[in-house]
Amino acid sequence: MKIAILSDVHSNGDALAAVARELDAHRVERIYHLGDLAGYGAEPERCVQWARERTSGGILGNHDAVACGKSEGERFNAPALVAARWSAGRLSPSSRAYLGSLPDRLAVEEAFLLVHGSPSDPDRYLFTLDDAVEELDSLAADPRVRIAFFGHTHVPAAVIRRRDGSTVSVSPSETVLKDGETALFNPGSVGQPRDRNPEASFLVFDTRSRKASWLRTPYDIEASMRKILEAGLPRFFATRLAEGT
Ligand SMILES: [Fe+2]
Repeated sequence: MKIAILSDVHSNGDALAAVARELDAHRVERIYHLGDLAGYGAEPERCVQWARERTSGGILGNHDAVACGKSEGERFNAPALVAARWSAGRLSPSSRAYLGSLPDRLAVEEAFLLVHGSPSDPDRYLFTLDDAVEELDSLAADPRVRIAFFGHTHVPAAVIRRRDGSTVSVSPSETVLKDGETALFNPGSVGQPRDRNPEASFLVFDTRSRKASWLRTPYDIEASMRKILEAGLPRFFATRLAEGT
């Protein structure tokens, strides 16, 4: 079965629509999201509605937590908090309730764990190999978990623990997980990529062949930028889309 993992959509309806068309073309059977549907961009309701209709499950992101009233956003910088609160005011009661119902972690297909930041802490940013090693050590306690999918950094990543116990970082392009290996995979961000590639990023995983493929999709970035500016949201959230930062 082919599953798609999407993360950090961040109210970018144009990026999400382009990715949705790609998922149809790839005949993906199930879609999961890793949180941060809301925040930063101008179309939170469109993105949450899509997730409610199309995904088989998802995770609460830190921006979603502010948008649905579960968190005050104490750790947010000022512009991010402005956008998350703006999202809150644009969500329907049912979409806020949906965000409020999302868990911090979700096990799917009995072999995969979905989290926002990291398995140990939803707010932890996993950027370094040392951090990934710690998380893989803690995952070893549950032998059923083959892969933990995480987001939050907006940067695609793939860290694999080999059968000999070594841990390696591999290029997040295409990789096949072998017997006895475990991994941390980040699909990158649909709506606000930060790896200097402005195209929407997501991941498709084939549960039978265990092949993970990171995909990029161009979308109408100008339209997204215009909507952010017209909404009066911080200008930086528009310009960074064009730069992929
Ligand atoms: Fe995010």
